[in-house]
Amino acid sequence: MSNVFVLDHPLIQHKLTYIRRTKTGTKEFRELVDEVAGLMAFEITRDLPTEEIEIETPVTTAKAKILSGKKIGLVPILRAGLGMVDGILRLIPAAKVGHVGLYRDPETLMPVEYYIKLPSDIQERELIVIDPMLATGGSANDAIHSLKKRGATHIKLMCLIAAPEGVEVIQKEHPDVDIYLAALDEKLNEKGYIVPGLGDAGDRLFGTK
Ligand code: PRP
Ligand code: URA
Repeated sequence: MSNVFVLDHPLIQHKLTYIRRTKTGTKEFRELVDEVAGLMAFEITRDLPTEEIEIETPVTTAKAKILSGKKIGLVPILRAGLGMVDGILRLIPAAKVGHVGLYRDPETLMPVEYYIKLPSDIQERELIVIDPMLATGGSANDAIHSLKKRGATHIKLMCLIAAPEGVEVIQKEHPDVDIYLAALDEKLNEKGYIVPGLGDAGDRLFGTK
């Protein structure tokens, strides 16, 4: 069964409160999502393996740690996932970035895949699938299936806000995928929006409607 981690660091929670508020405009919303993504990445990468190497400092030789093991790949789900990429890349600048384009059909709420482009070595990478919202779970579920079909074996899912319904879908379909959230909200409404949520993440990030 996948683990669910709600990252309750005070800075993450403080910024998320401002992200949620209707009166937060596009510029501030975008900046806050970027900052929270970076803070979340810091927590998510806590378990990355390290190894010791020998280095020369200006004073002596010393053993010091560097990252080892699998390299990282980020996979934002278009379009709203894009808003979280730069914040993570500031911490992990060498990560490669794949893109999965999905939108929810407004009538059926089913995901429709319209684009996929991934690094050629995804099977050797630790992948972090990124999307601000995990609502019905359809989009993330579809994206993860697409990655697994192409050979990915190590996947984490990172979202700002999830509904219990979406978490349940991922846990059932992908028990090997751990889920990292800034908040687990109450429910979905009849239109498939997370309550209390933040509204439409893509529209708020890009100023569309
Ligand atoms: C939003 C969001 C997720 C999806 C979540 O994208 O960014 O990808 O909905 O909903 P689900 O869990 O029910 O699938 P949307 O379809 O609005 O597309 P956009 O990112 O292009 O705005
Ligand atoms: N997608 C969003 O952008 N917001 C929601 O609340 C649900 C799906």
